[in-house]
Amino acid sequence: THVLVLNGPNLNLLGKREPEIYGLQTLQDIEDDIRQLASNHQVKLTCFQTNQESALIDKIHHHGLLTTNPDEQIDAIIINPAAFTHTSVAIRDALLAVNKPFIEVHLSNIHTREPFRQHSYFSDKAEAVICGMGAFGYTAAFNYLVQKYQ
Ligand code: DQA
Repeated sequence: THVLVLNGPNLNLLGKREPEIYGLQTLQDIEDDIRQLASNHQVKLTCFQTNQESALIDKIHHHGLLTTNPDEQIDAIIINPAAFTHTSVAIRDALLAVNKPFIEVHLSNIHTREPFRQHSYFSDKAEAVICGMGAFGYTAAFNYLVQKYQ
């Protein structure tokens, strides 16, 4: 089993960025926690963060469909599209194109925030949606996938 963990724009600033909303853990901390779980369960893990929409799309295409290297082929995706959640038909279409199950994660509870955050271009196609659990949402999503695939 191989899981791809994708994080969108501004999530490189976790720990420094609006900590009252997004918490004090850095993205490095979050990825380290998932990496630990992955090695415990002998699951392959690829983590990627970018501020660019096209880079997310290319990563989804590569690992989800285009690569012929079995070591790079993934079974499922955990994605926090960040602000692209509310804007990106293109990332939604990329996920649908590769046809891999994905879990949508948000650190904050987007439903208690500004109205523009309450619509997601992903949720109706996600296998599961987690929001408001902070960094724990990523490990919850990962543990779910581990029990699903083992
Ligand atoms: C976020 C919520 C989004 O609305 C916001 O644009 C983010 C982070 C979250 O993890 O809570 O950048 O996806």
